[in-house]
Amino acid sequence: MASLAEQTMHNRVFSQIYERAWRPIFTRGFSLGGSSTADYDRALRAYLARPGERRVLDVACGPGNYAKDAAKGLTGVGSYVGLDYSAAMLAQAAHDNHTDRATFVRGDAHALPFRSGSYDTVTCLAALYLIPDPLSALDEMVRMLAPGGELIVFTSIQSGVAALPGADLVSGVLGLRLFSRTEILDHLRAHELVGLEQTITGVGQYVHGRKL
Ligand SMILES: C[S@@+](CC[C@H](N)C(=O)[O-])C[C@H]1O[C@@H](n2cnc3c(N)ncnc32)[C@H](O)[C@@H]1O
Repeated sequence: MASLAEQTMHNRVFSQIYERAWRPIFTRGFSLGGSSTADYDRALRAYLARPGERRVLDVACGPGNYAKDAAKGLTGVGSYVGLDYSAAMLAQAAHDNHTDRATFVRGDAHALPFRSGSYDTVTCLAALYLIPDPLSALDEMVRMLAPGGELIVFTSIQSGVAALPGADLVSGVLGLRLFSRTEILDHLRAHELVGLEQTITGVGQYVHGRKL
């Protein structure tokens, strides 16, 4: 049966309020009320918006809330593809975040419907903890990367209150997975991603790595 969190992602009303109302509160929640996640998010948006000819894939893009930033600096044949399995989220993405360089595609993160090595940047932001088999979804993301391509992930981590006894139980009931401190890094290292960097913001972690 789909978890509460999974069911919510298919809800039309939730997809409508997600970007403006829910995501800012959720972002703050990741830093336990502080601003470190929002600060990192601002820096990430600026990084994604840098000029260049990149093919960008945003896995579990939700209502496309990174589409405009990721498409902003693109040059030449650069493109942004947002993929999500929720029709409600994709309808909102097309309504709110359409740009000339953006395309939104319905699909499952466990079986990405693109050729291996097709992307220079793959992002998966605030979604991996919802995906039933997150490590196989990560493998799919790595498969999408061209040589030298970068992977950027924002997800949960067992730190702070999320490391306290019982946190796993609460997150399990909600359908949100809490990753151990090294789980994502170890998995990506085993896939020969290099230059791995992890930044922890409260109960969130940003991971950045590159394919050789
Ligand atoms: C919390 S939203 C994150 C949206 C956006 N990336 C952001 O950073 O705000 C999580 C998204 O993951 C999507 N999702 C969850 N499991 C998925 C899967 N297996 N395949 C594709 N999308 C999935 C949901 O539909 C939802 O839009």
